[in-house]
Amino acid sequence: MDQEPSSNSPPAPTFSSGKGKGKAPADGLDGRPGDADNLPWVEKYRPATLDDVVSHKDITSTIEKFIEQNRLPHLLFYGPPGTGKTSTILAVARKIYGNEYRKQILELNASDDRGIDVVREQIKNFAEMRTLYSKGFKLIVLDEADMMTQAAQSALRRVIEQYTRNVRFCIICNYVNKIIPAIQSRCTRFRFSPLPQTEIEKRIKQVVEAEHVNLTEDGKQALLKLSKGDMRRALNILQACHAAYDRTDETAIYNCTGNPHPSDIEAIVTSMMNDEFSTSYQKVSRMKTDKGLALQDLIAGTYEYLESLELPPQTRVYLLDHLATTEHRLSTGGSEKVQLTALLGAIKNGVELAAR
Ligand SMILES: Nc1ncnc2c1ncn2[C@@H]1O[C@H](COP(=O)(O)OP(=O)(O)OP(=O)(O)O)[C@@H](O)[C@H]1O
Ligand SMILES: [Mg+2]
Repeated sequence: MDQEPSSNSPPAPTFSSGKGKGKAPADGLDGRPGDADNLPWVEKYRPATLDDVVSHKDITSTIEKFIEQNRLPHLLFYGPPGTGKTSTILAVARKIYGNEYRKQILELNASDDRGIDVVREQIKNFAEMRTLYSKGFKLIVLDEADMMTQAAQSALRRVIEQYTRNVRFCIICNYVNKIIPAIQSRCTRFRFSPLPQTEIEKRIKQVVEAEHVNLTEDGKQALLKLSKGDMRRALNILQACHAAYDRTDETAIYNCTGNPHPSDIEAIVTSMMNDEFSTSYQKVSRMKTDKGLALQDLIAGTYEYLESLELPPQTRVYLLDHLATTEHRLSTGGSEKVQLTALLGAIKNGVELAAR
């Protein structure tokens, strides 16, 4: 899975087994009928045209110009998950070839076998196959290319050059540094940055209206915050909450995703700072069991909460350092109990430091 390593909270519930690598035709906001009703929303509302792709206007307009002039170069899309890379290339294909675009493109992703031989054979066959309504060039999409071995990537170098006459490649990945330089230099690179909250908000608004979701204002803010620039995550959380609750508010969103509610975090940190050691320890452990919070999420929440506090610089540095070490020790197998007391101790020391 190519989700970026983030906090250790459980992944947002998904309605599809895969991540929606563009296998299903998605006819959502473009208003065309289809059996769209049972599709997960990420597929149902996958942008159909380049105009539907929110944010990245510079990228889509550049590509549109390429297409108009019939001068599409080889493309390299990279950036974090859920920012529209696969959607963009599918929209490009649809623009070039019309609705029957799936017959005109070869899509290979990480779930396909992509050793050297397969790449050579499949691409060769596809490139040499003549199509009836050929539009000058065909499109080969290599999704999740950072999972390809170095050897397979090297084999690709020659293939790209060999077939440039009638094939264009689009290479998609999360981590561009895993693509060998030789391939990078053969492609025009586009970086898909995490989507700004305002852009996610725009798209969410359309979905909320189309699906009649009862999303409250604080729910929306929580959703935008938790989505972290990933539209797929935003849509998945929204769909899960809509299915589980009549009213999608802040609490529903935090419950659905298993993230600690900010007010819980506040109560915990306040107790850690002000209560006596053992009282605070008992209180926090009880909250942990009652609400099913993981220490890892507590640490992430505490980190965010500290940002909103006014602290002497020394104290802040001390606390951040200890949050980081506790998180590290947890990730290498330290016990929750011991690490919780360590964190509590560190916060107590921090408070003492601030009082000096
Ligand atoms: N820029 C965007 N505009 C509108 N919808 C988007 C955008 N980016 C992502 N989405 C939504 O999120 C879903 C997933 O997007 P997409 O498959 O394009 O992500 P990706 O960048 O290819 O991610 P990954 O790196 O995980 O493959 C889409 O189906 C669409 O509903
Ligand atoms: Mg993708």
